[in-house]
Amino acid sequence: MESHKSSFLWVFLIFSILNSKYLLVQGLGVNWGTRASHPLSPNVVVKLMKDNGFDKVKLFEAEPWVLNALKNSGIQVMLGIPNDFLAPLASGVRVAEDWVTKNVSAYVSRGVDIRYVAVGNEPFLKTYKNMFTNTTLPALQNIQAALIKAGLGRQVKITVPLNADVYESGSGVPSEGNFRSDIHDLMISIIQFLSDNAAPLTINIYPFLSLYADSHFPIDFAFFVGTNAPVVDGTISYTNVFDANYDTLVWALEKNGFSSMPVIVGEIGWPTDGDQNANLQYAQKFNQGLFSRIIQGQGTPKRKTPPDIYVFGLIDEDAKSIDPGNFERHWGVFNYDGTVKYKLDLGSNNKTLIPAKGVRYLPKQWCVMAPDASESDPNLADSINYACTYADCTSLGYGSSCNGLDARGNASYAFNQYFQMFNQQKGSCDFHNLSVVTRIQPTTGITNCKYEIMLDLGKHEKERSPVASVAALGRRLEDLRYSAVVAVISTVIVSWVS
Ligand SMILES: *[C@@H]1O[C@H](CO)[C@@H](O)[C@H](O)[C@H]1NC(C)=O
Ligand SMILES: *[C@@H]1O[C@H](CO)[C@@H](O)[C@H](O)[C@H]1NC(C)=O
Ligand SMILES: *[C@@H]1O[C@H](CO)[C@@H](O)[C@H](O)[C@H]1NC(C)=O
Ligand SMILES: *[C@@H]1O[C@H](CO)[C@@H](O)[C@H](O)[C@H]1NC(C)=O
Ligand SMILES: *[C@@H]1O[C@H](CO)[C@@H](O)[C@H](O)[C@H]1NC(C)=O
Repeated sequence: MESHKSSFLWVFLIFSILNSKYLLVQGLGVNWGTRASHPLSPNVVVKLMKDNGFDKVKLFEAEPWVLNALKNSGIQVMLGIPNDFLAPLASGVRVAEDWVTKNVSAYVSRGVDIRYVAVGNEPFLKTYKNMFTNTTLPALQNIQAALIKAGLGRQVKITVPLNADVYESGSGVPSEGNFRSDIHDLMISIIQFLSDNAAPLTINIYPFLSLYADSHFPIDFAFFVGTNAPVVDGTISYTNVFDANYDTLVWALEKNGFSSMPVIVGEIGWPTDGDQNANLQYAQKFNQGLFSRIIQGQGTPKRKTPPDIYVFGLIDEDAKSIDPGNFERHWGVFNYDGTVKYKLDLGSNNKTLIPAKGVRYLPKQWCVMAPDASESDPNLADSINYACTYADCTSLGYGSSCNGLDARGNASYAFNQYFQMFNQQKGSCDFHNLSVVTRIQPTTGITNCKYEIMLDLGKHEKERSPVASVAALGRRLEDLRYSAVVAVISTVIVSWVS
């Protein structure tokens, strides 16, 4: 009896210690985007999040295969509504009721811990030219009414994820912050409505895009490591753009009578490829600084209470639109297959990122340029173009990880991307006889540039012709229109320092 009791006590003690360690990294949120040609199995992704201490997830829309995997996972969910759905939702409360019944109540009752509904995604981006300014608030109101009717008014809060370009500062210092003049009154109405319903404002902040938009942006200011040229605002010296940007919002809120309005950072991160400033070194530097402050519970100079932060993103998405730039497919903390891109120190006990488990790959074979094919073959350029029209070649461009490849390397990279995109099917390594399948792993000779093998989706599409697959993929890419137009932001922040 005694010994049972004492071993129970030991277990309890050890559990408490483990638990308190876990508590240190609580509050890690992440965006799970699904615009991948070969998404990881949702159960593998949920395990990946849990293994790494991500206890909050933001989704861009209600996809059953994703939501079902989150049942009883202990992960809190912010569920997004795409902008295309704002007009229908604004048109009547019945549409909103249907949406809530089907996409919230149904999952909450089955154990999905939905905490927020994010109405729209950056609907006031300048690039949208007011397309959603009339519908966002009515949609928000209708969703709120529907949540109350469904008995979820307390449990599930509404919010609107906005790009940081909804506020600005005339002179550049945070204390001059206010909402963009063209949408000022609308912003106040939205914030009032959120405030009345004890709901938070959500804001996306992207230091990388400040740098992308202006090559004179002082690069140190983008990270969390201090700078020689801080932005001085009264007694406060801002040493990183995140603090300065966030506090510009806090000032704007205070100026308009909402000094205690809760704020969530809905997206923040750094891509690893597709631009000269999108690389492993910078992404690691930025995300290490970000994760450390999340783990330490650090706020900003103006607001000491730290916001909930959702990192963008969890995994790379090779089917996202590259309208914003080639980097758009490379925001993941993890690679497309859930492998770790770079080491992150996650606080106590040498805790670091853990890769996905149970990932299934296609067979180890690659499609490369045939040894006897000539670099001067007249079909070569067209073949590469064709491959890169349907597969992701964003790593080949200027400043990207595979940019240093020679002509043969370029061709092999493109051919292999296409071959993997189409699941190594018969006929997908057939570029005017310029290509050949190999089972000997080819190397590029460049660090961080690899000939990949795609994930096995378990549905070998032998019955489908490549043409049919291409058409299906084309449709999928079409669907992405709305998903990814991240604006090049923050003339505000840029103007502070130029
Ligand atoms: C639920 O959400 C999905 C994804 O956004 C959407 O396609 C569907 O129409 C929604 N269901 C209802 C009943 O509105
Ligand atoms: C929004 O409403 C205003 C006033 O009713 C109208 O003039 C404008 O055309 C509308 N904008 C859009 C994009 O529908
Ligand atoms: C952390 O890692 C360092 C270096 O690898 C090692 O010396 C140290 O003992 C580790 N600490 C713990 C708590 O595991
Ligand atoms: C390889 O492809 C990239 C991107 O298309 C291009 O910029 C580069 O010039 C190519 N290199 C050679 C040697 O053809
Ligand atoms: C590829 O090579 C085969 C055999 O050498 C030949 O019959 C065929 O016409 C070639 N195809 C193309 C597209 O060049």
